[in-house]
Amino acid sequence: MNTATDGPQAAERLECRTIPPARPVSTLEEDALAGLVNSRPRSLPPKYFYDARGSDLFDRICDTPEYYPTRVEDALLRRHAAHIVDTVHPFHIVELGAGTSRKTRRLFDACAAAGCRSVYAPFDVCREVMLEHGQGLVADYDWLTVNALVGDYHAGLDHLPAFAETTLYVFLGGTIGNFSHDEAVAFLTDLAARMKPADRLLLGADRFKDPARLHAAYNDAAGVTAAFNLNLLNVLNRELEADFDPAAFAHHACFNPFKRRIEMYLASLRPQQVHLGRLEHVIEFDEGEAILTEISRKFTYPALVALLEESGLAVLTPYEADGGDYSLILAGRG
Ligand code: SAH
Ligand code: AVI
Repeated sequence: MNTATDGPQAAERLECRTIPPARPVSTLEEDALAGLVNSRPRSLPPKYFYDARGSDLFDRICDTPEYYPTRVEDALLRRHAAHIVDTVHPFHIVELGAGTSRKTRRLFDACAAAGCRSVYAPFDVCREVMLEHGQGLVADYDWLTVNALVGDYHAGLDHLPAFAETTLYVFLGGTIGNFSHDEAVAFLTDLAARMKPADRLLLGADRFKDPARLHAAYNDAAGVTAAFNLNLLNVLNRELEADFDPAAFAHHACFNPFKRRIEMYLASLRPQQVHLGRLEHVIEFDEGEAILTEISRKFTYPALVALLEESGLAVLTPYEADGGDYSLILAGRG
């Protein structure tokens, strides 16, 4: 195995490039026109949360006592990473929506123990988070090469690098729950189509549970989730030359039992007008009127199996947290 002295230096093992969209994907201007100006109830896609500050706030959510998914998934990875690496022997690890890659380190630890020197390609909309944490990865794992990819996974995966060697695709954190059913099927079908027979997907998904625990996880007492949600208004102010007053909106997150999902909103605290400078529009909010900013679906195990099957994938090994809190699933092409 390389050591820091005989292998390439850390800086040489980290690169970052932009992946062009494989199909047209709407811009923030188009999404704001459709979701804020031309429709009521209002909504925006969740990808706009993740500027540098939003990514940092998400990382802080993961450390709140109420937000259990990160801890539970991390414990599952600690327990099963060696089995995953021994089973798949990945030459490449491609992580979709990688963020800080904090839990993926369990896989790198297992790779190191097995002498499996995988090359890591985190893919995310947020360049800053991958660069910052990529530097930590190449410093901590002296054999690891990190080829960070900046892009939008809803724009298709066709322009991701195609590898001849066995690839483990990783999609953690329960982010699949932030997709509608149709988005999830489109994304997983796209992924299945590029997987070779020996390639695998490691999917993390949050499970349906006591609504009180779900509610608490999205309403932490320290207000970090509220700050994460409200930061979206800073993004809109900066990118659209808008004049949202974050103090005039409240974070609201609730569990919808009919749709088995958390719904996160920003609710206007008073009647108000907001100027969207770049769009040359003024929008009106009634008191209490809300913008839907995120859904976070919570799955039963059979619903996860059905979602994978509908997308051309099959469960190979399910790894389940005690009490069914969370599922990590190793899947292959169906
Ligand atoms: N996988 C990490 C991070 C989850 S947060 C974990 O388990 O903790 C969701 C991540 O997906 C963020 O890093 C965000 O920047 C990224 N993301 C959100 N929408 C995206 C999109 N459309 N394309 C690519 N990445 C996206
Ligand atoms: C990234 N995603 C899975 C998180 C979730 O739980 O839906 C985002 C989040 N939103 C509020 N808290 C965490």
